[in-house]
Order: sequence, then structure tokens, then C-alpha cells
Amino acid sequence: MSDAPSDSPKLIRRPEWTALADHRAEGQPHLRELFATDPGRAERYVVRVGDLHIDYSKHLITDETLALLQELATATGVFALRDAMFRGEKINITERRAVLHTALRAPRDAVVEVDGENVVPAVHAVLDKMAGFAERVRSGEWTGHTGKRIRNVVNIGIGGSDLGPAMAYEALRAYTARELTFRFVSNVDGADLHEAVRDLDPSETLFIVASKTFTTIETITNATSARSWLLGGLDGDEKAVAKHFVALSTNAGKVTEFGIDPDNMFEFWDWVGGRYSYDSAIGLSLMIAIGPDRFREMLDGFHLVDEHFRTAPTESNVPLLLGLLGIWYDNFHDAQSHAVLPYSHYLSKFTAYLQQLDMESNGKSVDRDGNPVEWQTGPVVWGTPGTNGQHAYYQLIHQGTKLIPADFIGFAEPVAELSGELRAQHDLLMANFFAQTQALAFGKTAEEVRAEGVSEEQVAHRTFRGNHPTTTILARELTPSVLGQLVALYEHKVFVQGAVWNIDSFDQWGVELGKVLAKRIEPALTTGAEVPGLDPSTTALVAAYRTLKNA
Ligand code: F6P
Repeated sequence: MSDAPSDSPKLIRRPEWTALADHRAEGQPHLRELFATDPGRAERYVVRVGDLHIDYSKHLITDETLALLQELATATGVFALRDAMFRGEKINITERRAVLHTALRAPRDAVVEVDGENVVPAVHAVLDKMAGFAERVRSGEWTGHTGKRIRNVVNIGIGGSDLGPAMAYEALRAYTARELTFRFVSNVDGADLHEAVRDLDPSETLFIVASKTFTTIETITNATSARSWLLGGLDGDEKAVAKHFVALSTNAGKVTEFGIDPDNMFEFWDWVGGRYSYDSAIGLSLMIAIGPDRFREMLDGFHLVDEHFRTAPTESNVPLLLGLLGIWYDNFHDAQSHAVLPYSHYLSKFTAYLQQLDMESNGKSVDRDGNPVEWQTGPVVWGTPGTNGQHAYYQLIHQGTKLIPADFIGFAEPVAELSGELRAQHDLLMANFFAQTQALAFGKTAEEVRAEGVSEEQVAHRTFRGNHPTTTILARELTPSVLGQLVALYEHKVFVQGAVWNIDSFDQWGVELGKVLAKRIEPALTTGAEVPGLDPSTTALVAAYRTLKNA
């Protein structure tokens, strides 16, 4: 596992950590000065992986910072843990599970063993089964109970069983079968399912129930209601379920119990974490949307970055670099959050997807041995498509009091479908992108403001401090492969940070307490039942809720 023996010094007492703290305490020149004294950094601080062009020159770093960060990575055993992950070792220690989302995109002839068994043939068997099903739905060969072709696909899932396929469907909309309608239902608020199906014909609708455990209350509740909606529209004929419901799960028993034919179940495995699962069977809705070939292109994009992460040297390993830059701000600049700002309408759900990937993975406060950590762990990840953000919260990034490192993601070309004026708008979009990263880095000095003739009492208000760090990620076009590359890049970045912080990035115990309490509270809301052990504040709120409800 980690090459950091348990009696090795705590992270913050490592010499590599204190060296970074000292380096930070020396103070760094402003980005204006860093570029003035070293213009070569614009070319030097650029890396490429696959189709991604990554510019990290606008970071508050020098060659020395990078060298110190790389030493920290080596000392904390990032590479040993990475190799253990790729080998299928059980690095998810609290759940005693292997962490093998990388096997989901391994080529057919690869060998990846878990407990002595090569899992790659099973991965490809499920991909093939998905491809067969996807083609039948896309061609109209798979028909509903009344013989009509399927025109609507509704994915019911939550967390990793929703965010991934929903994000990727949106990202790759230009590649989707436009004659089919796709909807994603996750919220246990009945309004979500209601809005998703209210204009659909049950006889033309396929529900995909996506749940790794098949016990998640939101998903099972929505799936049960969807079943009632379907049967309500098809004369209550139970046989309809077989043609209108499929399941994506690791839990065949629960799927059967729900009434879904196990033949209509697409399997995955406990070594796939929910937030790392949309390239498994969980991606079935996406595969129906974009077709098996495009789905495979996406998997190849993932695999390309997996191989890069596994083999690239320290100096040019991009996920390592991005992970370490995050640590520089999180641990040595007290940054509390990290913004991800795509300049692509199609990536409108990308940051929400990353929130689960990053915050469920690295929102931890004990180390791998269960001891409290004495260092900051994962940041708050947030953001929406960039141009909209410019007219909302960018003010705070530019002139507020907080340091907010940001990733800007953009493309040189819009999708092929855009033509004429809409295609021409792309340069304006990207002009905004480059303007923002320039303004954030270099700002506008008081002298520059004065030189514009601004009155003295306004100067401070119109000055931009600058020195705000950004990473620029560019690709030619948002293709399935590029999406796979981007997601794998962030997956491995999150891995690097968890490894340095010595936390288990692959469990999520923090979501459990709320689930248990909700189950306990529900009877109090529906029947007024007394809930033993409820605190006074929640008891009062439950009473207020019931009063309002019954008013
Ligand atoms: O939020 C907790 C969690 O377990 C996530 O990790 C997971 O993605 C989500 O719930 C859904 O779980 P399932 O796929 O088992 O329904």
C-alpha cells in the first residue's frame, strides 16, 4: 500500500512540508513580476496530455515551488499508492475494496486482477451487453409493452448514479440521437419525476434504474413511483415492467426483488466507487444517447489519461501537477475553495459532477489510520459556465478578500452542429475566457486607473489587485474522447491530493448519518409518531411542519 510507514512523521512534520511552509513564508512576487522577470514561463509551464493543452503559467509558483511540491509527493508515497490502485490492491481501506475504475476502460486484452481474478473479460462482457441493448433501443428494435418503439429514456439514480450520466449526456448532446428524449431523475422530491414524465407517453418510455447498492431510498422511491406511473398508463399490466425497466447495479438480489428481470440488469462491481462509475454500466443511458462507438471513444480518452498518470515522469505528470497545485493553495495559502469554470455551455453540469468526485472523496478529517488530520483536506469545489459567472460571482474573485484558485476550461472550436452566426459567437466566448484569466493574473494597478483620468476617490474601487491563480485547460473540440480525458484528469488529481493528505479518498461515511436520521424522522412527519431521542430543536421543527401541513 502506501510506502509511508505508519511510524513515519505526520504530514506537517515532514521536512518536505516544512520546506514548503518556509518557501511560502519567504513570500512570492506578484504574477506581474514573475512574468516580467521570467517571460519564458509562458512556454515552460505548459503540458500536454492527449488532446488537452494545459497552461499553468498563471500560478503563484516558481521552479523552486514545483520542485518542493514534487518532493512532497515522492515523500508521501503518491506513486506507490497509485501503483497499488492500478494493481487492484484494496486501497479503500475502510470498505476493504479495490479501487479499479481504471479497469473499466482497460483494453480487451489487458489483465487487471482482483483477488487473483482478471476482471477485464467481465468488464467487456458487460460493455458488449450494453452495446447490444443500446443498439436495439436506438434502432427501434426494442419495443415497449404495446409494441411501440422507445422514444424516451429516463435514468433514475442519485449521486454517482445520476451526476455522471447526466453531466456526460449534456456534454455530448451534439453527438446524441436527437430523435430520442433523455431525462435524469434524482431528487426524492416528487416534483422531479413529475416534471420528467408529465409530457411522456408510458408506452414509449424506458426507465433505467441506476443504483450500485439498489437500496438507496431516493432511487428506490422514485423507481417505485415510476413503476406506478407506467402501470397506470398501461392498464396495470405487470408484464409491462419487463419491457420498460432495466437496472444498473451490483446487487442482483435486490434488482430481482424490485421486479426487474435479471436478464435486464447490467452489472458492475464493488471495486467501482459510485462517483467513479459513469464509464461502467451506469453509463447505459449515455451509451443509448451517443451510441456504443462514441462511448468506446470516450473510454479510450479515459484510458489515455490513465496510462499517462501511471507512466509519465513526475515533472510532466499532469494529474500529479494539478493535484500538487491544489495542495499549494489549500495548505499553504489557506484557500478554502476551488472554482471550475467551463467556457462551454455543454459542460454546464461538469462542476456539479466534480463536486461529488472531489468533495465526497476528499472531504475527510481523519487519516488512513483514523487519526484526526492536522491539515486542511479537500476544498469546496464550485462554479458554473464562465460567461454567466462573470455577471454573477466573478466580482468576488476579482476584488473580494478571498483567494480562489480557478480552472478555466475551453475549446478552440464549437461543436460541428453550430453554424453561421452561432458558430461565429465562439470567438467572443473565448475572448471572454482569455480576458478573465488575464485580468485575474495581472489586474489593474492604481497607476493604470489614474492614467485613465479616474478621480482619486474612485481609484481604489477601480483597482484590480490581480495575482489570482488560474489553470487554463484547452482542447480543440469537446468530443467523447476529450470528455473522457478531462474526467480522468480530475479523477487522478483528486487521487493525488488524497494520497498526500493520507486520507481514504474512496469511502463516504459522511453521508450515512443523515440517511439514518431521515428514516427515523419520516414517520413523525407523515403520522405524527413520536421519535425517541429527537433533539428539542428538531422536535419543534417537526411540530411546526405538521402545523403548517395541517393548516
Ligand atoms: O451519496 C452517497 C452515495 O453512496 C454515493 O457515493 C453514491 O454515488 C450514491 O450514494 C448513490 O448510491 P447508489 O448507486 O448505491 O444508489
